Amino acid sequence: MTDHSNDSSAKAWSGRFSEPVAELVKRYTASVAFDRRLAPHDIRGSLAHARMLARQEIIGADDLAAIERGMAAIKHEIETEQFQWSVDDEDVHLNIEKRLTALIGDAGKRLHTGRSRNDQVATDIRLWLREEIDGLDDLLRAYQGALLELAESHAATPMPGFTHLQVAQPVTFGHHLLAYFEMAARDRARLADCRKRVNRLPLGAAALAGTTFPIDREFVARELGFDGICANSLDAVSDRDFAIEFCAAAALVMTHVSRFSEELILWMSPRVGFIDLADRFCTGSSIMPQKKNPDVPELARGKSGRVFGHLVGLLALMKGQPLAYNKDNQEDKEPLFDTVDTVRDTLAIFADLVAGIRVRPEAMRAALRQGYATATDLADYLVKKGLPFRDAHEAVALAVRAAEERGCDLAELGLETLRGFSPLVGEDALEVLSVEGSLASRSHAGGTAPEQVRAAIAAARRAL
Ligand code: ARG
Repeated sequence: MTDHSNDSSAKAWSGRFSEPVAELVKRYTASVAFDRRLAPHDIRGSLAHARMLARQEIIGADDLAAIERGMAAIKHEIETEQFQWSVDDEDVHLNIEKRLTALIGDAGKRLHTGRSRNDQVATDIRLWLREEIDGLDDLLRAYQGALLELAESHAATPMPGFTHLQVAQPVTFGHHLLAYFEMAARDRARLADCRKRVNRLPLGAAALAGTTFPIDREFVARELGFDGICANSLDAVSDRDFAIEFCAAAALVMTHVSRFSEELILWMSPRVGFIDLADRFCTGSSIMPQKKNPDVPELARGKSGRVFGHLVGLLALMKGQPLAYNKDNQEDKEPLFDTVDTVRDTLAIFADLVAGIRVRPEAMRAALRQGYATATDLADYLVKKGLPFRDAHEAVALAVRAAEERGCDLAELGLETLRGFSPLVGEDALEVLSVEGSLASRSHAGGTAPEQVRAAIAAARRAL
Protein backbone atom coordinates (compact mmCIF):
# COMPACT_ATOMS: atom_id res chain seq x y z
CA MET A 1 0.00 0.00 0.00
CA THR A 2 1.47 3.35 -1.02
CA ASP A 3 1.37 6.07 1.58
CA HIS A 4 0.17 9.24 -0.13
CA SER A 5 -0.43 11.26 3.02
CA ASN A 6 2.52 13.57 2.51
CA ASP A 7 2.55 13.47 -1.29
CA SER A 8 1.34 16.77 -2.75
CA SER A 9 0.61 15.17 -6.13
CA ALA A 10 -1.74 12.64 -4.54
CA LYS A 11 -5.40 12.74 -5.50
CA ALA A 12 -8.01 13.78 -2.97
CA TRP A 13 -9.34 10.23 -3.00
CA SER A 14 -6.10 8.26 -3.48
CA GLY A 15 -5.93 6.85 0.06
CA ARG A 16 -7.40 3.46 -0.85
CA PHE A 17 -5.50 3.01 -4.12
CA SER A 18 -2.27 1.08 -4.49
CA GLU A 19 -1.10 2.40 -7.85
CA PRO A 20 -1.47 5.72 -9.61
CA VAL A 21 -4.07 6.19 -12.33
CA ALA A 22 -2.82 5.47 -15.85
CA GLU A 23 -1.94 8.60 -17.81
CA LEU A 24 -4.59 8.08 -20.48
CA VAL A 25 -7.18 7.25 -17.85
CA LYS A 26 -6.29 10.43 -16.03
CA ARG A 27 -7.04 12.43 -19.16
CA TYR A 28 -10.08 10.32 -19.97
CA THR A 29 -11.69 10.93 -16.60
CA ALA A 30 -10.66 14.56 -16.12
CA SER A 31 -13.10 17.34 -16.82
CA VAL A 32 -11.09 20.36 -15.76
CA ALA A 33 -10.39 21.37 -19.35
CA PHE A 34 -14.05 22.25 -19.78
CA ASP A 35 -15.64 22.49 -16.34
CA ARG A 36 -13.29 25.25 -15.22
CA ARG A 37 -15.78 27.69 -16.63
CA LEU A 38 -17.92 26.79 -13.62
CA ALA A 39 -15.24 28.18 -11.28
CA PRO A 40 -17.01 31.43 -10.23
CA HIS A 41 -20.12 29.42 -9.37
CA ASP A 42 -18.11 26.72 -7.62
CA ILE A 43 -16.55 29.38 -5.41
CA ARG A 44 -19.88 31.02 -4.74
CA GLY A 45 -21.43 27.69 -3.78
CA SER A 46 -18.47 26.81 -1.54
CA LEU A 47 -18.68 30.13 0.29
CA ALA A 48 -22.39 29.66 0.97
CA HIS A 49 -21.69 26.13 2.20
CA ALA A 50 -18.85 27.35 4.45
CA ARG A 51 -21.04 30.10 5.92
CA MET A 52 -23.69 27.53 6.72
CA LEU A 53 -21.10 25.20 8.31
CA ALA A 54 -19.89 28.04 10.53
CA ARG A 55 -23.42 29.14 11.47
CA GLN A 56 -24.22 25.57 12.44
CA GLU A 57 -20.93 25.40 14.37
CA ILE A 58 -19.70 22.51 12.24
CA ILE A 59 -16.54 24.51 11.47
CA GLY A 60 -15.09 27.40 13.46
CA ALA A 61 -15.44 31.11 12.71
CA ASP A 62 -11.68 31.20 12.12
CA ASP A 63 -12.02 28.43 9.53
CA LEU A 64 -14.70 30.40 7.74
CA ALA A 65 -12.58 33.56 7.77
CA ALA A 66 -9.64 31.62 6.29
CA ILE A 67 -11.87 30.04 3.64
CA GLU A 68 -13.24 33.43 2.64
CA ARG A 69 -9.77 34.89 2.45
CA GLY A 70 -8.45 31.94 0.44
CA MET A 71 -11.37 31.96 -1.97
CA ALA A 72 -10.96 35.69 -2.60
CA ALA A 73 -7.34 35.04 -3.53
CA ILE A 74 -8.28 32.12 -5.80
CA LYS A 75 -10.99 34.17 -7.48
CA HIS A 76 -8.41 36.82 -8.23
CA GLU A 77 -5.93 34.26 -9.55
CA ILE A 78 -8.55 32.81 -11.86
CA GLU A 79 -9.71 36.20 -13.11
CA THR A 80 -6.17 37.28 -13.86
CA GLU A 81 -5.37 33.90 -15.42
CA GLN A 82 -2.65 33.14 -12.89
CA PHE A 83 -4.40 30.08 -11.54
CA GLN A 84 -2.55 26.86 -12.34
CA TRP A 85 -5.19 24.43 -13.57
CA SER A 86 -3.98 20.85 -13.42
CA VAL A 87 -5.36 17.74 -15.03
CA ASP A 88 -3.90 15.83 -12.08
CA ASP A 89 -6.68 17.31 -9.99
CA GLU A 90 -9.40 16.02 -12.29
CA ASP A 91 -12.04 18.72 -12.17
CA VAL A 92 -12.77 22.30 -11.23
CA HIS A 93 -13.85 21.34 -7.71
CA LEU A 94 -10.66 19.48 -6.77
CA ASN A 95 -8.44 22.09 -8.43
CA ILE A 96 -9.94 24.86 -6.34
CA GLU A 97 -10.03 22.84 -3.13
CA LYS A 98 -6.41 21.86 -3.51
CA ARG A 99 -5.33 25.43 -4.08
CA LEU A 100 -7.41 26.54 -1.10
CA THR A 101 -5.66 24.06 1.12
CA ALA A 102 -2.27 25.15 -0.20
CA LEU A 103 -3.19 28.73 0.67
CA ILE A 104 -4.87 28.31 4.07
CA GLY A 105 -4.01 24.85 5.35
CA ASP A 106 -6.42 22.72 7.40
CA ALA A 107 -9.38 25.10 7.11
CA GLY A 108 -9.30 24.31 3.39
CA LYS A 109 -9.61 20.61 4.16
CA ARG A 110 -12.65 21.29 6.35
CA LEU A 111 -14.63 22.96 3.55
CA HIS A 112 -15.83 19.67 2.12
CA THR A 113 -17.48 18.61 5.41
CA GLY A 114 -21.05 17.46 4.84
CA ARG A 115 -20.76 17.81 1.09
CA SER A 116 -19.78 15.71 -1.93
CA ARG A 117 -18.71 16.65 -5.41
CA ASN A 118 -21.99 15.09 -6.49
CA ASP A 119 -24.18 17.75 -4.90
CA GLN A 120 -21.47 20.35 -5.49
CA VAL A 121 -21.38 19.91 -9.26
CA ALA A 122 -25.16 19.79 -9.52
CA THR A 123 -25.28 23.08 -7.63
CA ASP A 124 -22.62 24.68 -9.82
CA ILE A 125 -24.38 23.77 -13.05
CA ARG A 126 -27.68 25.12 -11.79
CA LEU A 127 -26.09 28.39 -10.69
CA TRP A 128 -24.33 28.71 -14.03
CA LEU A 129 -27.36 27.79 -16.11
CA ARG A 130 -29.63 30.16 -14.21
CA GLU A 131 -27.33 33.04 -15.08
CA GLU A 132 -27.09 31.98 -18.71
CA ILE A 133 -30.87 31.71 -19.00
CA ASP A 134 -31.12 35.30 -17.79
CA GLY A 135 -28.56 36.34 -20.39
CA LEU A 136 -30.45 34.52 -23.15
CA ASP A 137 -33.66 36.20 -22.08
CA ASP A 138 -32.00 39.61 -22.50
CA LEU A 139 -30.79 38.63 -25.95
CA LEU A 140 -34.19 37.31 -27.00
CA ARG A 141 -35.72 40.58 -25.86
CA ALA A 142 -33.19 42.56 -27.92
CA TYR A 143 -33.96 40.36 -30.95
CA GLN A 144 -37.67 40.96 -30.42
CA GLY A 145 -37.00 44.69 -30.18
CA ALA A 146 -35.21 44.64 -33.53
CA LEU A 147 -38.07 42.69 -35.12
CA LEU A 148 -40.55 45.25 -33.80
CA GLU A 149 -38.55 48.19 -35.13
CA LEU A 150 -38.44 46.73 -38.61
CA ALA A 151 -42.09 45.66 -38.43
CA GLU A 152 -43.04 49.20 -37.52
CA SER A 153 -41.38 50.60 -40.64
CA HIS A 154 -43.15 47.98 -42.74
CA ALA A 155 -46.56 47.75 -41.09
CA ALA A 156 -48.15 48.57 -44.47
CA THR A 157 -45.56 47.16 -46.88
CA PRO A 158 -47.27 44.47 -48.97
CA MET A 159 -45.49 41.22 -49.65
CA PRO A 160 -46.74 37.86 -50.84
CA GLY A 161 -47.66 35.46 -48.09
CA PHE A 162 -46.75 31.92 -49.12
CA THR A 163 -48.12 28.45 -48.60
CA HIS A 164 -46.22 25.57 -50.20
CA LEU A 165 -43.75 28.30 -51.18
CA GLN A 166 -46.34 29.43 -53.76
CA VAL A 167 -47.75 32.95 -53.62
CA ALA A 168 -50.91 32.65 -51.57
CA GLN A 169 -52.35 35.95 -50.30
CA PRO A 170 -50.97 39.41 -49.61
CA VAL A 171 -49.65 40.08 -46.14
CA THR A 172 -47.62 42.97 -44.87
CA PHE A 173 -43.94 42.52 -44.23
CA GLY A 174 -44.56 43.86 -40.73
CA HIS A 175 -47.12 41.14 -40.12
CA HIS A 176 -44.68 38.51 -41.33
CA LEU A 177 -41.99 39.77 -38.96
CA LEU A 178 -44.41 39.75 -36.05
CA ALA A 179 -44.81 36.01 -36.51
CA TYR A 180 -41.16 35.66 -35.48
CA PHE A 181 -41.75 38.05 -32.61
CA GLU A 182 -44.43 35.69 -31.30
CA MET A 183 -42.14 32.66 -31.61
CA ALA A 184 -39.47 34.50 -29.62
CA ALA A 185 -42.06 35.43 -26.97
CA ARG A 186 -42.91 31.75 -26.51
CA ASP A 187 -39.21 30.88 -26.44
CA ARG A 188 -38.74 33.33 -23.58
CA ALA A 189 -41.74 31.93 -21.72
CA ARG A 190 -40.35 28.41 -22.09
CA LEU A 191 -36.95 29.45 -20.74
CA ALA A 192 -38.58 31.29 -17.83
CA ASP A 193 -40.56 28.18 -16.99
CA CYS A 194 -37.49 25.97 -17.22
CA ARG A 195 -35.63 28.42 -14.95
CA LYS A 196 -38.07 27.65 -12.12
CA ARG A 197 -36.95 24.02 -12.08
CA VAL A 198 -33.28 24.93 -12.55
CA ASN A 199 -33.46 27.22 -9.54
CA ARG A 200 -33.51 24.56 -6.82
CA LEU A 201 -30.63 23.74 -4.48
CA PRO A 202 -29.11 20.22 -4.63
CA LEU A 203 -26.45 20.96 -1.99
CA GLY A 204 -27.01 19.00 1.21
CA ALA A 205 -27.76 15.82 -0.71
CA ALA A 206 -24.04 15.08 -0.31
CA ALA A 207 -23.01 11.94 -2.23
CA LEU A 208 -26.58 10.62 -2.45
CA ALA A 209 -28.08 9.97 0.99
CA GLY A 210 -27.63 13.29 2.76
CA THR A 211 -25.18 13.87 5.60
CA THR A 212 -24.79 13.16 9.29
CA PHE A 213 -23.97 16.81 10.03
CA PRO A 214 -26.68 19.23 11.24
CA ILE A 215 -26.77 21.24 8.01
CA ASP A 216 -29.22 24.03 7.13
CA ARG A 217 -30.11 23.65 3.48
CA GLU A 218 -32.68 26.44 3.50
CA PHE A 219 -30.01 28.89 4.59
CA VAL A 220 -27.73 27.85 1.72
CA ALA A 221 -30.65 28.10 -0.71
CA ARG A 222 -31.36 31.67 0.40
CA GLU A 223 -27.66 32.60 0.26
CA LEU A 224 -27.46 31.41 -3.34
CA GLY A 225 -30.76 32.90 -4.48
CA PHE A 226 -32.46 29.54 -5.07
CA ASP A 227 -36.25 29.38 -4.80
CA GLY A 228 -35.99 26.30 -2.59
CA ILE A 229 -34.19 22.99 -2.14
CA CYS A 230 -34.35 19.78 -4.14
CA ALA A 231 -36.63 17.67 -1.98
CA ASN A 232 -35.00 14.27 -2.45
CA SER A 233 -31.26 13.71 -2.05
CA LEU A 234 -31.04 10.88 -4.60
CA ASP A 235 -32.89 12.92 -7.19
CA ALA A 236 -30.85 16.03 -6.37
CA VAL A 237 -27.50 14.51 -7.30
CA SER A 238 -28.57 12.36 -10.20
CA ASP A 239 -31.14 13.94 -12.48
CA ARG A 240 -30.16 16.38 -15.18
CA ASP A 241 -33.67 16.86 -16.51
CA PHE A 242 -33.36 20.60 -15.92
CA ALA A 243 -30.46 20.66 -18.38
CA ILE A 244 -32.38 18.51 -20.84
CA GLU A 245 -35.44 20.73 -20.79
CA PHE A 246 -33.20 23.74 -21.20
CA CYS A 247 -31.72 22.10 -24.29
CA ALA A 248 -35.24 21.40 -25.57
CA ALA A 249 -36.15 25.07 -25.13
CA ALA A 250 -32.86 26.03 -26.79
CA ALA A 251 -33.59 23.65 -29.68
CA LEU A 252 -36.86 25.47 -30.27
CA VAL A 253 -35.10 28.84 -30.20
CA MET A 254 -32.76 27.52 -32.89
CA THR A 255 -35.66 26.02 -34.85
CA HIS A 256 -37.29 29.42 -35.01
CA VAL A 257 -34.07 31.21 -35.89
CA SER A 258 -33.38 28.56 -38.50
CA ARG A 259 -36.76 29.04 -40.16
CA PHE A 260 -36.18 32.78 -40.24
CA SER A 261 -32.70 32.15 -41.67
CA GLU A 262 -34.16 30.00 -44.41
CA GLU A 263 -36.46 32.86 -45.36
CA LEU A 264 -33.69 35.44 -45.26
CA ILE A 265 -31.59 33.29 -47.56
CA LEU A 266 -34.49 32.87 -49.95
CA TRP A 267 -35.44 36.54 -49.85
CA MET A 268 -31.86 37.57 -50.49
CA SER A 269 -31.47 35.32 -53.50
CA PRO A 270 -31.36 37.50 -56.64
CA ARG A 271 -34.21 35.33 -57.97
CA VAL A 272 -36.42 36.72 -55.23
CA GLY A 273 -34.68 39.93 -54.18
CA PHE A 274 -37.06 40.95 -51.38
CA ILE A 275 -34.29 42.07 -49.06
CA ASP A 276 -30.62 42.72 -48.81
CA LEU A 277 -28.53 41.95 -45.75
CA ALA A 278 -25.89 44.39 -44.52
CA ASP A 279 -22.44 43.56 -45.85
CA ARG A 280 -21.11 42.84 -42.38
CA PHE A 281 -23.20 39.67 -42.25
CA CYS A 282 -22.18 38.37 -45.64
CA THR A 283 -19.07 37.10 -47.33
CA GLY A 284 -17.84 36.91 -50.88
CA SER A 285 -16.72 33.95 -52.90
CA SER A 286 -13.05 33.27 -53.48
CA ILE A 287 -13.73 32.38 -57.11
CA MET A 288 -16.95 34.12 -58.17
CA PRO A 289 -16.47 37.89 -57.93
CA GLN A 290 -20.18 38.71 -58.20
CA LYS A 291 -21.23 36.79 -55.09
CA LYS A 292 -22.51 38.10 -51.79
CA ASN A 293 -23.43 35.11 -49.68
CA PRO A 294 -25.75 35.13 -46.64
CA ASP A 295 -23.29 33.15 -44.51
CA VAL A 296 -24.69 34.16 -41.15
CA PRO A 297 -28.23 32.86 -41.69
CA GLU A 298 -26.79 29.76 -43.38
CA LEU A 299 -24.61 29.08 -40.35
CA ALA A 300 -27.48 29.71 -37.95
CA ARG A 301 -29.54 27.20 -39.93
CA GLY A 302 -26.62 24.78 -39.80
CA LYS A 303 -25.84 25.32 -36.13
CA SER A 304 -29.40 24.46 -35.16
CA GLY A 305 -28.37 20.88 -35.98
CA ARG A 306 -25.71 20.70 -33.30
CA VAL A 307 -28.11 22.10 -30.71
CA PHE A 308 -30.67 19.42 -31.58
CA GLY A 309 -27.85 16.87 -31.32
CA HIS A 310 -27.00 18.03 -27.81
CA LEU A 311 -30.61 17.56 -26.74
CA VAL A 312 -30.66 14.00 -28.03
CA GLY A 313 -27.20 13.39 -26.56
CA LEU A 314 -28.31 14.41 -23.09
CA LEU A 315 -31.46 12.31 -23.29
CA ALA A 316 -29.32 9.33 -24.21
CA LEU A 317 -26.87 10.16 -21.42
CA MET A 318 -29.64 10.03 -18.86
CA LYS A 319 -31.85 7.20 -19.94
CA GLY A 320 -29.81 4.25 -18.75
CA GLN A 321 -28.56 5.59 -15.45
CA PRO A 322 -29.63 3.90 -12.25
CA LEU A 323 -29.93 6.13 -9.18
CA ALA A 324 -28.05 7.98 -7.96
CA TYR A 325 -24.99 9.81 -9.28
CA ASN A 326 -22.91 8.17 -12.00
CA LYS A 327 -19.84 9.53 -13.70
CA ASP A 328 -21.80 9.53 -16.96
CA ASN A 329 -23.15 12.85 -15.73
CA GLN A 330 -19.79 14.50 -16.23
CA GLU A 331 -20.64 14.26 -19.93
CA ASP A 332 -23.54 16.69 -19.44
CA LYS A 333 -21.31 19.74 -19.49
CA GLU A 334 -19.84 20.04 -22.97
CA PRO A 335 -23.20 19.69 -24.76
CA LEU A 336 -24.82 22.07 -22.33
CA PHE A 337 -22.03 24.63 -22.64
CA ASP A 338 -22.01 24.38 -26.42
CA THR A 339 -25.78 24.79 -26.52
CA VAL A 340 -25.59 27.98 -24.49
CA ASP A 341 -22.65 29.33 -26.51
CA THR A 342 -24.31 28.58 -29.83
CA VAL A 343 -27.68 30.08 -28.91
CA ARG A 344 -26.08 33.08 -27.25
CA ASP A 345 -23.90 33.98 -30.22
CA THR A 346 -26.69 33.34 -32.69
CA LEU A 347 -29.14 35.61 -30.87
CA ALA A 348 -26.56 38.33 -30.31
CA ILE A 349 -25.85 38.39 -34.04
CA PHE A 350 -29.48 38.21 -35.07
CA ALA A 351 -30.62 41.30 -33.17
CA ASP A 352 -28.06 43.26 -35.15
CA LEU A 353 -28.71 41.42 -38.41
CA VAL A 354 -32.43 42.22 -38.30
CA ALA A 355 -31.68 45.89 -37.71
CA GLY A 356 -29.52 45.85 -40.86
CA ILE A 357 -32.11 44.33 -43.24
CA ARG A 358 -32.79 46.50 -46.29
CA VAL A 359 -36.24 45.87 -47.72
CA ARG A 360 -37.13 46.03 -51.43
CA PRO A 361 -40.89 46.75 -51.52
CA GLU A 362 -40.94 46.87 -55.37
CA ALA A 363 -39.73 43.28 -55.60
CA MET A 364 -42.37 42.15 -53.12
CA ARG A 365 -45.09 43.92 -55.07
CA ALA A 366 -43.92 42.46 -58.38
CA ALA A 367 -44.10 38.97 -56.88
CA LEU A 368 -47.62 39.66 -55.65
CA ARG A 369 -48.74 40.63 -59.12
CA GLN A 370 -47.27 37.51 -60.70
CA GLY A 371 -48.85 35.24 -58.13
CA TYR A 372 -52.54 36.29 -58.38
CA ALA A 373 -52.40 36.90 -54.67
CA THR A 374 -55.84 38.53 -54.54
CA ALA A 375 -57.71 35.68 -56.25
CA THR A 376 -59.24 34.59 -52.92
CA ASP A 377 -60.46 38.14 -52.36
CA LEU A 378 -62.38 38.04 -55.63
CA ALA A 379 -63.88 34.67 -54.73
CA ASP A 380 -64.93 36.01 -51.29
CA TYR A 381 -66.44 39.04 -53.06
CA LEU A 382 -68.58 36.81 -55.25
CA VAL A 383 -69.68 34.80 -52.21
CA LYS A 384 -70.78 37.99 -50.48
CA LYS A 385 -72.90 38.67 -53.59
CA GLY A 386 -74.66 35.35 -53.15
CA LEU A 387 -72.61 32.84 -55.16
CA PRO A 388 -71.86 29.56 -53.33
CA PHE A 389 -68.14 29.45 -52.44
CA ARG A 390 -67.32 26.44 -54.64
CA ASP A 391 -68.84 28.16 -57.68
CA ALA A 392 -66.99 31.37 -56.86
CA HIS A 393 -63.75 29.38 -56.56
CA GLU A 394 -64.36 27.86 -60.00
CA ALA A 395 -65.22 31.19 -61.64
CA VAL A 396 -62.04 32.83 -60.30
CA ALA A 397 -59.90 29.83 -61.23
CA LEU A 398 -61.06 30.23 -64.84
CA ALA A 399 -60.30 33.96 -64.68
CA VAL A 400 -56.77 33.20 -63.39
CA ARG A 401 -56.26 30.83 -66.30
CA ALA A 402 -57.31 33.53 -68.74
CA ALA A 403 -55.01 36.07 -67.08
CA GLU A 404 -52.15 33.59 -67.21
CA GLU A 405 -52.70 33.08 -70.92
CA ARG A 406 -52.59 36.82 -71.48
CA GLY A 407 -49.67 37.33 -69.13
CA CYS A 408 -51.50 39.89 -67.01
CA ASP A 409 -52.94 40.04 -63.51
CA LEU A 410 -56.63 39.69 -62.67
CA ALA A 411 -57.38 43.43 -62.48
CA GLU A 412 -55.74 43.95 -65.88
CA LEU A 413 -58.27 41.61 -67.47
CA GLY A 414 -60.75 44.46 -67.06
CA LEU A 415 -64.27 44.44 -65.68
CA GLU A 416 -65.84 43.36 -68.95
CA THR A 417 -63.79 40.17 -69.22
CA LEU A 418 -64.19 39.43 -65.53
CA ARG A 419 -67.96 39.67 -65.89
CA GLY A 420 -67.67 36.91 -68.47
CA PHE A 421 -66.69 34.59 -65.60
CA SER A 422 -69.45 35.83 -63.31
CA PRO A 423 -72.13 38.40 -63.95
CA LEU A 424 -71.93 39.30 -60.25
CA VAL A 425 -68.67 41.20 -60.87
CA GLY A 426 -69.44 44.86 -60.24
CA GLU A 427 -67.53 48.16 -60.42
CA ASP A 428 -66.14 47.60 -56.92
CA ALA A 429 -64.40 44.35 -57.91
CA LEU A 430 -61.24 46.19 -58.93
CA GLU A 431 -60.85 47.61 -55.42
CA VAL A 432 -61.23 44.07 -54.06
CA LEU A 433 -58.49 42.87 -56.40
CA SER A 434 -56.07 45.56 -55.30
CA VAL A 435 -53.37 44.56 -52.86
CA GLU A 436 -54.20 47.46 -50.55
CA GLY A 437 -57.89 46.51 -50.57
CA SER A 438 -57.04 42.91 -49.82
CA LEU A 439 -54.82 43.85 -46.88
CA ALA A 440 -57.25 46.37 -45.42
CA SER A 441 -60.10 43.88 -45.54
CA ARG A 442 -58.37 41.46 -43.17
CA SER A 443 -58.93 43.68 -40.21
CA HIS A 444 -59.47 41.59 -37.12
CA ALA A 445 -57.22 40.69 -34.21
CA GLY A 446 -54.26 38.75 -35.57
CA GLY A 447 -54.98 39.83 -39.16
CA THR A 448 -52.64 41.44 -41.64
CA ALA A 449 -54.45 44.79 -42.18
CA PRO A 450 -51.92 47.58 -41.54
CA GLU A 451 -54.06 49.00 -38.74
CA GLN A 452 -54.10 45.59 -37.06
CA VAL A 453 -50.35 45.23 -37.52
CA ARG A 454 -49.85 48.62 -35.89
CA ALA A 455 -52.10 47.59 -33.00
CA ALA A 456 -50.15 44.33 -32.62
CA ILE A 457 -46.89 46.28 -32.56
CA ALA A 458 -48.23 48.61 -29.88
CA ALA A 459 -49.35 45.64 -27.77
CA ALA A 460 -45.98 43.94 -28.28
CA ARG A 461 -44.16 47.08 -27.18
CA ARG A 462 -46.21 47.18 -24.00
CA ALA A 463 -45.48 43.49 -23.35
CA LEU A 464 -41.76 44.01 -23.95
N1 ARG B 1 -16.52 16.13 -12.35
C1 ARG B 1 -17.64 15.43 -11.82
C2 ARG B 1 -18.87 15.71 -12.69
O1 ARG B 1 -18.80 16.52 -13.52
C3 ARG B 1 -17.91 15.89 -10.43
C4 ARG B 1 -18.58 14.87 -9.57
C5 ARG B 1 -17.66 13.72 -9.39
N2 ARG B 1 -18.17 12.82 -8.42
C6 ARG B 1 -17.63 11.62 -8.25
N3 ARG B 1 -18.14 10.88 -7.36
N4 ARG B 1 -16.66 11.18 -9.01
O2 ARG B 1 -19.89 15.08 -12.56
